[in-house]
Amino acid sequence: MPPAEPGRRWDTQALLATAERCLAGGALHHLTALPPEARVVLVRGRGSRVWDSDGREYIDYYLGSASLVLGHAHPEVLAAVRAQEEQGTQFFELTPAAIQLAERLTQVVPCAERVKFANSGSEATAAALKLARAHTGRDHVLKFEGAYHGTHDWAVWGALHRAPIAYPRAEADSMGVPRGLGDYVLVAPYNDLATASAQIRAHRHQLAAVMMEPLLGNVRPAPGFLEGVRAVTAEYGIPLIFDEVVSGFRLALGGAQEYYGVVPDLTALGKSLGGGYPIGAIAGRAALFDSVTPAAVARGRFAMYTGTFSGNPVSCAAALATLDVLQRPGTYARLHDLGQSLANGLRDISRRLGVPTFVINEGPMVDLWFTDRPVTSYPAIWAADAARSRTFKLGLMRRGIWSPPGLKMFLSLAHTDEDIARTLEAGEAAMNAL
Ligand SMILES: Cc1ncc(COP(=O)(O)O)c(C=O)c1O
Repeated sequence: MPPAEPGRRWDTQALLATAERCLAGGALHHLTALPPEARVVLVRGRGSRVWDSDGREYIDYYLGSASLVLGHAHPEVLAAVRAQEEQGTQFFELTPAAIQLAERLTQVVPCAERVKFANSGSEATAAALKLARAHTGRDHVLKFEGAYHGTHDWAVWGALHRAPIAYPRAEADSMGVPRGLGDYVLVAPYNDLATASAQIRAHRHQLAAVMMEPLLGNVRPAPGFLEGVRAVTAEYGIPLIFDEVVSGFRLALGGAQEYYGVVPDLTALGKSLGGGYPIGAIAGRAALFDSVTPAAVARGRFAMYTGTFSGNPVSCAAALATLDVLQRPGTYARLHDLGQSLANGLRDISRRLGVPTFVINEGPMVDLWFTDRPVTSYPAIWAADAARSRTFKLGLMRRGIWSPPGLKMFLSLAHTDEDIARTLEAGEAAMNAL
């Protein structure tokens, strides 16, 4: 593997000092900010590797926040982007790339009869909720405890608490959110079908949507849970939204809805779809898009939906190239095998060292909790030793494995068996040092 940007030297301390002075909090994302001793500046990514400004190489398991399912700078994605750039980078009008991508999504995502584009996962979940409210004429939304749907005001409820809450009421996770919105955002426990169904039934005349991550972070749906939520929402005509910003194109080409065989009415997409370029999309049943048609505008009753860069041709070209690669035979078997090897290796290490852990891998997503109990619900996460987990992850990072604390590990098609072997060596050393 070549060194990062041969011949180019960066003054890391000067860059970090400028970041401190000019970027609020000195970081791009305060929730994932690394401790001062682990702060780096990344200058290059290729395949499964990233390099920092001091030339250190890491095997990357965070992949641009789970957005690089093919790995960094995939040659086919770069070629498609360059070809599009030659033709123009932005039009705010129909382009072949946007049209072809919309068609492709209707072919591969089970619920997708119609598509609209956005620029991020947060935009996509916000837009999905707006479409559902416009369609039903109702205002309330039910989401699940611990579910992250981005940072907009409707999303940041009941996702970060560390003590029991009185369902369906939850506190806002963020400052700056109107308190009154809490009357409209109901929160139910994930994997507790009886409580969730009772809440849905009790609020059936108010609910515009039930929104969920089909896989809650890395907590697997209990058998029958997704099916049960699907059945009760269908019974009351409440649109079910799957937030597949992470699971889409990762668990399977058609996302969690294909993988688990439960089809929602609407889905929010992002991350992996763009192959490393910014994108979001909302896809779903045609009727749910009735408020964003020219006919709705002509009636004077429509939902506002537009965005300067929505459907940007460079992002759409990158997405088409990404889907071309993902659609080849064997892709998902390989991604799932990689996840399985990493997870099995971590299980072996913790068994051998006598360190109780709960390792989960749902396909190419792996997470490890330091606990002697299975993690099958959001509250079960509280029992795990978060400080230990942080120390372990920082130990991995010191050993050349890019996996920031508090975040799960993602595999890409660029990862090799040798990467996994090196990661497990680092994992054993980091766990031994705990
Ligand atoms: C499940 C889920 N939904 C939505 C989002 C928001 O996506 P974005 O960061 O692109 O706005 C994220 C981001 O991590 C996510 O994990």
